[in-house]
Amino acid sequence: MPHRNISVMISTQHQLLPKSDQRIMEEEEFLEENSECEVSNAYPLASDSGPRVFKILPKWVPKASYYFDKEHYCYASHQITIQESIESLGAIVWPGALALCQYLESNQQEINIKDKKILEIGAGTGLVSIVASILGAFVTATDLPEILENLEFNISRNTRNLNVHKPEVRKLVWGENLSEEFPKATHHYDFIVATDVVYNHTALDPLLRTISYLCQPGTILLWANKFRFSTDYEFLDSLGKILNVTQLAEFPESNVKLFKGTVREN
Ligand SMILES: C[S@@+](CC[C@H](N)C(=O)[O-])C[C@H]1O[C@@H](n2cnc3c(N)ncnc32)[C@H](O)[C@@H]1O
Repeated sequence: MPHRNISVMISTQHQLLPKSDQRIMEEEEFLEENSECEVSNAYPLASDSGPRVFKILPKWVPKASYYFDKEHYCYASHQITIQESIESLGAIVWPGALALCQYLESNQQEINIKDKKILEIGAGTGLVSIVASILGAFVTATDLPEILENLEFNISRNTRNLNVHKPEVRKLVWGENLSEEFPKATHHYDFIVATDVVYNHTALDPLLRTISYLCQPGTILLWANKFRFSTDYEFLDSLGKILNVTQLAEFPESNVKLFKGTVREN
């Protein structure tokens, strides 16, 4: 995990404002004070063959930070502030998200997402969708209904003043109502992205069906995951039966692997 700059500042300036306005004003002041952020590229570690091996770099560089429940990151020269909570798994940033953001930022020629249509499943706090949006993609970020408010908040606060394609936030429950809510004829995506969606939960079959449904010919799946359990490897095997899967990168310090999947051509 990268370092997290967690410090608390007692704010007295805007206490009379409604809470939402207060958050936005504080946010804007923070961004003004910290408008420059260091750009540091991921550096691959030496590897003889196979996927490139990366070290996840500390990506936050704020000069000041406040509120213990906010995290600050820097990707593609932009400060990104993520509101986290302890309420659900989708309310914190997971290591797979950091790995994929770093990879997208550092490999823009290899994985060119500018003006491409991207759908993220299990988007959580929205960090990957925000970075994809900053890098020029048309982004649809999806998750369970109870995650969407914070997801929308994070995506909006981090993209609203930028010249980017406006990201969309939508409910997508794995395996449910896919053909009604995401009909294939009108919903073709260039990339499906997913980070740390595989762990010890009971929805692995619906997740696999969802990935299979969303990946049409021409779609590229980018899946970054921390590998912990035997079920993670079983999922990888199952995925390999429905898509052509290759490993793009490895992040040994966090045990994250990044895979690319494409539809098999018959
Ligand atoms: C471990 S979190 C990862 C969040 C984010 N991708 C990241 O890497 O920071 C898993 C995400 O999958 C979502 N999720 C879990 N089960 C789901 C389901 N059945 N349908 C849709 N999303 C689900 C959770 O709400 C959560 O946002």
